[in-house]
Amino acid sequence: KVDKKLDVIIIGAALVDLPLRPVGKEVFDVVSYPVDGIKMTIGGDAINEATIITRLGHKVGLMSCVGVDLPGWFVMDHCKTNGIDTTYIKQDPTKDTSINVGLVAEDGERTFITNRQGSLWKFCYEDLDMSALKDAKILSFASIFNNPLFDNKALVAVFSKAKKEGMTICADMVMPKVNETLNDIREALSYVDYFFPNFEEASEMTGAVKENEVADILYGCGVKNVVMKIGKRGCYIRNSEGSVIVPAAKGVTAIDTIGAGDNFASGFITALLEGKTLRECAAYANCTAAVSVQYVGATGGVKDRAIVEEMFTRYRKDYGA
Ligand code: ADP
Ligand code: NA
Repeated sequence: KVDKKLDVIIIGAALVDLPLRPVGKEVFDVVSYPVDGIKMTIGGDAINEATIITRLGHKVGLMSCVGVDLPGWFVMDHCKTNGIDTTYIKQDPTKDTSINVGLVAEDGERTFITNRQGSLWKFCYEDLDMSALKDAKILSFASIFNNPLFDNKALVAVFSKAKKEGMTICADMVMPKVNETLNDIREALSYVDYFFPNFEEASEMTGAVKENEVADILYGCGVKNVVMKIGKRGCYIRNSEGSVIVPAAKGVTAIDTIGAGDNFASGFITALLEGKTLRECAAYANCTAAVSVQYVGATGGVKDRAIVEEMFTRYRKDYGA
């Protein structure tokens, strides 16, 4: 067995977030609108996942695309500071790094203002250096539908190459941006070993309303293991052995669920790299997400491995495992 340079390659978004809070509906009625703070932060599913898996102790290469602009350098700097391999991030002078402005209301409700011309929307198959796939064991496609140019054809091109290299394929999804349906990604899903949608997204995409029906439909597309997130109840797994719910961590007070899904995937992939069983991977994923929801921001909770290990120890005690 050859030693690979990286453990995981993550494909997806890396951008800059500008969360503004609190903002009310009267924002246009005044000339100047003070908020509690304005700070640039790192955002995007793939860079969040890369950050967390790195903190959990594994070597991650991020495959993304940014512009040759200050937000692009901000992304590159975050990766360097956090020990994420940037070899496969394309800095493209023809693209503007995406900046998402988040308007967050007092009650937590939010609207994101995004740039249609930004790197998130313009990221495409041609930006990928496919030779990278020989360097890692796991490929994680951070979110199907997040980068609209990654349609079924592009996904199949990436996934079939990854399979040829013997990689394990993980993927999550977000709600479709341009009215895509399940049929638009059916073939791509047949390559996926572990698929992490949340129930609402998967229900909307499949048109089914019961958990078992949603999971069966996805399993029927050829996904080997459907690992569907069901919020504070944990996750619902469907594979060739049937279905099982792996419960969430107990006694957790969620204050911010932003990025919970990214943390879930990060915990799962970490456990997978360490040879844990499917159930243990799901439990470790639940624990990683449970840490994350107790803190503000996608990467504010899992500061290091110890905080997840502590949660996992408690989890095993609670469930007698
Ligand atoms: P997403 O963030 O993708 O919408 P969910 O809301 O289903 O996904 O949450 C992802 C995961 O976060 C869940 O599968 C669960 O492990 C964990 N989680 C969410 N809310 C709680 C909670 N209140 N207590 C414990 N774990 C939670
Ligand atoms: Na998600």
